[in-house]
Amino acid sequence: MAAKLIDGKVVSEHILNNLKPRIEALKELGITPGLAAVLIGDNPASATYVNSKAKACQKLGLYSEVITRPANIEQGDLLKIVGELNRNERIHGILVQSPLPAPLDELMVTLSIDPAKDVDGFHPYNVGMLLLGTPTLISCTPHGIVKLLEYYQIETLGREVVVIGRSNIVGKPVAALLMQKGKGANATVTIAHSQSRDLPSITRRADIVIAAIGKPNTVTGDMIKEGAVVIDVGINRVSDPSTPKGYRLVGDVDFDACAQKASHITPVPGGVGPMTIAMLMTNTVLAAEIGGA
Ligand code: GUN
Repeated sequence: MAAKLIDGKVVSEHILNNLKPRIEALKELGITPGLAAVLIGDNPASATYVNSKAKACQKLGLYSEVITRPANIEQGDLLKIVGELNRNERIHGILVQSPLPAPLDELMVTLSIDPAKDVDGFHPYNVGMLLLGTPTLISCTPHGIVKLLEYYQIETLGREVVVIGRSNIVGKPVAALLMQKGKGANATVTIAHSQSRDLPSITRRADIVIAAIGKPNTVTGDMIKEGAVVIDVGINRVSDPSTPKGYRLVGDVDFDACAQKASHITPVPGGVGPMTIAMLMTNTVLAAEIGGA
């Protein structure tokens, strides 16, 4: 393998360690940052993510609540839960794990979260502030990607970034972050997606490829140029009877082939994933600092 591995575990540990003095300072003021995670239904991947988020809180000494409800919860009851969390003084950050089971209306739920407690950065207020270049609570996975690039001193200024995927959670906000003025940004950003014509000709232009499409092996070795940086946001479960769980996690990138050509590459797991959690913890501390201090 020619590429240098971008180690999300190392970078996330570094970020979490830097949060510790800020948490101590808040505790001296009598404030323990608190995160509430709302988990609806029985999607196993969502349950795993929410568990990891609660565990990260415990490890850092943050207060955490996990609220679980069945998939058939009424929309009004879910909005009531969020309303109570908005008023709960122990809670500085609220996240409702996505995707929500049908027919729940994800946008209505997001709109019901107090933007000052929206640690996912999904509320239109926070999305708008990001687009205007004045963000406070930045969505976690995109912010984590920017932090990875920064840590490994990967230049973005003037460089071609191709984002594959146009989701509200990753594709759109990471493009907005990397195109804005300022340090760690100033890139020329292209968003490609499932309807893009001739994807390989687009990705071969990129100095940095960010794959966030949710399909294994979307980015193959022939789709990247020599020396490109490859960031794999995908977390896909593929069946593997040889493992105890019966599945294994793979990204959106053909790792072995791309690692032969890339200068830097993220693994799955252990790349972007831990960064999402580290930035969620960062946002929870920030929300407590802004709201409580
Ligand atoms: N589902 C996948 N990623 C995320 C995330 O970052 N936050 C929430 N709330 N749901 C998700």
